[in-house]
Amino acid sequence: MKATRHQYDVLVVGAGLAGLRAALEVAPVSKACVLTKVYPSRSHSGAAQGGIAAALGNASPDSLEEHIFDTVKGSDYLGDQDAIEILISEAPEIIYEYEHFGVPFDRMADGRLAQRPFGGHSRPRAVYCMDYTGHVLLHTLYEQCIKQDVKFFSEFYTMSLIIRDGVCRGVVAWDQQKGGLHVFHAKAVILGTGGYGRAYKITTNALANTGDGLALASRAGIPIEDIEFVQFHPTGLYKQGILLSEGARGEGAYLTNNLGQRFMEKYAPGKMELAPRDVISRSIQTEVDEGRGINGQDYVYLDIRHLGEQKILERIPQIKDLAQKYLGVDCVTAPVPIQPTAHYSMGGIPTNNDAEVLLDGKDKKVVGLYAAGECACVSVHGGNRLGTNSLLEATLYGRRAGRSAVKFLRDAVLAPLPEDAPDASLKRIDEIQEKIRTLKERYQKIRAIDRNSIFNLDLIEAIELGNVLGFAEMIVAGAINRKESRGAHFRKDFPKRDDVNWLKHTLVYRDGDVLRFDYKPVRITRYQPQERKY
Ligand code: FUM
Repeated sequence: MKATRHQYDVLVVGAGLAGLRAALEVAPVSKACVLTKVYPSRSHSGAAQGGIAAALGNASPDSLEEHIFDTVKGSDYLGDQDAIEILISEAPEIIYEYEHFGVPFDRMADGRLAQRPFGGHSRPRAVYCMDYTGHVLLHTLYEQCIKQDVKFFSEFYTMSLIIRDGVCRGVVAWDQQKGGLHVFHAKAVILGTGGYGRAYKITTNALANTGDGLALASRAGIPIEDIEFVQFHPTGLYKQGILLSEGARGEGAYLTNNLGQRFMEKYAPGKMELAPRDVISRSIQTEVDEGRGINGQDYVYLDIRHLGEQKILERIPQIKDLAQKYLGVDCVTAPVPIQPTAHYSMGGIPTNNDAEVLLDGKDKKVVGLYAAGECACVSVHGGNRLGTNSLLEATLYGRRAGRSAVKFLRDAVLAPLPEDAPDASLKRIDEIQEKIRTLKERYQKIRAIDRNSIFNLDLIEAIELGNVLGFAEMIVAGAINRKESRGAHFRKDFPKRDDVNWLKHTLVYRDGDVLRFDYKPVRITRYQPQERKY
């Protein structure tokens, strides 16, 4: 099979908030394109619901210091504090930029942007569009990219990074619509490929979230940082895992057990249902483990009846819709069954504060390679992300990635493309077609063999499965390796945080079938670790 060749200054892989915001930065000054596995407006950022954080102080007095401290504490002191300071300090600018791009944020009666409370935040600082915030931000950025004539290669699946001698020279991708391999030669590549929630059975994540960017980086010899920190959102729709926004609790929803108790009073009396996600998800699990799940089952209730129909329809209409459609529950008159659901990966491809990917996870850069958003680990979320900080991070560090790439382009030359660039991808396709054929032969009676090039979902799913298996092993190995409990990582055999031995980031490398761990210190600027109480 012959590969089609393309040449750009900058390639952006992924069309969620991080990828689109990066593309928007690059497009006016150089020849850029976006490769995306799904149509851009189907990217998973669109599923985020409750809001995007900034200490604007509209609904109550607020300050950058408080937002920084909440984020550091929420991270269970594993977040790098210099990166967090950047995130929080530039947040108001990001909100105003979105507003100027045309985002119709909800407003207060006096016309200022409305802000609602969210878990782990000591002030109401989530700016929102009902419970469709991610959807609205994604569509707005996409419109802006169209305005800037950004070139999109939609439904292109990126199969490998071309890195030689520490320099990124492009990617190899598969055209899902028409079939065929493409080699994209470039001076710079920006990854904004999202997370890997699909490694879990119950998840808020879309089918596309198979951690492809992490797999690309890992196969290229780049370590993955803090992979053991996986966030479970407390309120997934029972058995489906679909997100029911924390915005509901921000608006005053209760969590209750089979005794009708608001059980969070036992676990986080100061914050109740607005404790951080790791604390609430663990509390729900404890209730279930101790037999106080509803009807003795593995779920509890999200109760929003007391908010009244008008407020529900005005502020959180999607929750009403989802509960009705998927469970047949009218949340105006009945509580909604919920359970914790895999939501967000705090770890990812290690970067510095300029979104430059680090070959050794520490200070050695991969020349011309950048990453931002959920696929990256900068690390602003540490052991546990606060709700609404992710849309902020994706946008802000996406913008930083774009700016870094633009700066890099000033002196960059196009590094030669190795002649064998597509070979490894071709070999994988051949091997997978062969494996699928063998498997299908065993199941001949129930399925046909798909050997087509066009929309061959068997091929893409087989590659995705390989990716998911690869880092599922890393998550488990990382969790076994980290002998403490911190943030979203909890072990019954090591139930306490251990700052003496484990106040450090993990870096896991894959050498063939062998996983190897390395470590680096957490960057602490203002706040020394303290016991975390809510
Ligand atoms: O609950 C939510 O609306 C999710 C927001 C987030 O993950 O930041």
